Amino acid sequence: MIIKTANFVKSSAKYEQCPEMNMPEFAFIGRSNVGKSSLINAITNHKKLAKTSGTPGKTQLINHFIINEEWYLVDLPGYGFAKISKKMRAEWKVMIDNYLYNRESLMNTFILVDSRIKPQKLDLDLITSYGEKNLPFTIVFTKTDKLKDNILAKNIAEYKRTLLEQWEELPHIIITSAIDKRGTEELLGYIEESIPIFFKDEH
Ligand code: GTP
Ligand code: MG
Repeated sequence: MIIKTANFVKSSAKYEQCPEMNMPEFAFIGRSNVGKSSLINAITNHKKLAKTSGTPGKTQLINHFIINEEWYLVDLPGYGFAKISKKMRAEWKVMIDNYLYNRESLMNTFILVDSRIKPQKLDLDLITSYGEKNLPFTIVFTKTDKLKDNILAKNIAEYKRTLLEQWEELPHIIITSAIDKRGTEELLGYIEESIPIFFKDEH
């Protein structure tokens, strides 16, 4: 897919404030600092479309971007950073659950996980909750430029093994880096293929 235009639309504190559901939508979710905003900038070829930061918790709202005037890309707030109160954690869950349950135009969520670390409970819990809600998702490994090929292969194999303890089949997986842009074409290709499904369903 060629990115002709990519523009910020709005930030919403709750799903009710999100834009009208008149276009197919693709969301990015994952632990704080996993690289959501960086990957969004990499796939859209816009260095500063989504704000990135070394400080976890930068993105706390539901951020909508419109791409090619045709589909929405959504940067969701990260989870799991250390200095967060129980109350904020609960608010995050309500915000995300409401968004996921009500956003009928959501075609797919890309769940980002850091390729450098072992499977984390918070990520596995999120993946489980997508399964329980029957929502389509893709697991996206990030920051793969930081690993040697053999270590990356080992980590991904371990992740797959962990998933297979719970799932009969492996979910769709994409291996990425925002630095060397690995996987970005594949990710965009997946989005491109999903767009016509939205219009076929006569939303
Ligand atoms: P929150 O908004 O806090 O939830 O974080 P985020 O998931 O949006 O992460 P962000 O894109 O801001 O990136 C966090 C840090 O990781 C930044 O310092 C990035 O430069 C770095 N980073 C992100 N993606 C990559 C990558 O593919 N490779 C490398 N080497 N660093 C990355
Ligand atoms: Mg971010």
